[in-house]
Amino acid sequence: MSDLTFNKVAGALLATGLAVFGLREASSIVFAHHEPEKAGYAIEVAEETGGAAEAEAPIDWGTVLPAADIAAGEASFAKCRSCHTIEQGGANGTGPNLYGVVGARPAVHPGFSYSPAMIAHGEEAPVWTFEELGHFLEAPQRYINGTKMTFVGLKRREELINMIAYLHSQGGQIPFPAPNPVAPAAEEGAAAEGEAAAEGEAAAPAEGEAPAEAAAETPAA
Ligand code: HEC
Repeated sequence: MSDLTFNKVAGALLATGLAVFGLREASSIVFAHHEPEKAGYAIEVAEETGGAAEAEAPIDWGTVLPAADIAAGEASFAKCRSCHTIEQGGANGTGPNLYGVVGARPAVHPGFSYSPAMIAHGEEAPVWTFEELGHFLEAPQRYINGTKMTFVGLKRREELINMIAYLHSQGGQIPFPAPNPVAPAAEEGAAAEGEAAAEGEAAAPAEGEAPAEAAAETPAA
């Protein structure tokens, strides 16, 4: 092959190579340039449904009621007075008179026009137990959807307990329940002492890459 022919062939190969390369580049620009499938981020809609109190363990009414502060409950009944009387034979106002409400059936106080929601609730849960009152007074509209008691609720547990003890002292029709023998406090003692003994892998000897420089020395002729 003459030098000229070689140059022609080499030139042709080079040109072809360039053309192929160029095409690939061009097509990758045109086609391969796609955006990531989801150009967004998962938005965590962590809906906070419960108040702080609800996250706690359920109240053991049999344990807390005998220790409750009835006078403190009476004092916070000021929050209820704009709508309720509690004295025996007291008048209905925006809300019904509450004498003897603990242990009564919901929505039956004479002369008061209850919401359909409260009447329906009385069919499902026919007694105002301590537990029922606890749920209701903590968040009235959340517990009885549609109630016309427009009161935000007693969020502090201590206040809630004292309030219900006070309501009970005003003509309560059921006794305090027996304490639950399984004290809820026991759970807290079992604080996880799990020492994750992360077995740190004893430094594995790094594989020494012995640079086997095989000095292929061509013996001098
Ligand atoms: C803004 C007025 C208002 C306030 C404040 C209010 N209530 Fe009520 N309450 C009502 C109304 C109205 C009803 C009747 C609800 C219905 O029919 O849905 C009611 C119902 C009740 C019932 C059920 C009575 C029954 O006969 O079944 C209880 C118990 C109760 N309230 C306790 C309280 C307590 C305790 C407080 C204070 C911490 C309080 N309420 C604050 C208006 C109020």
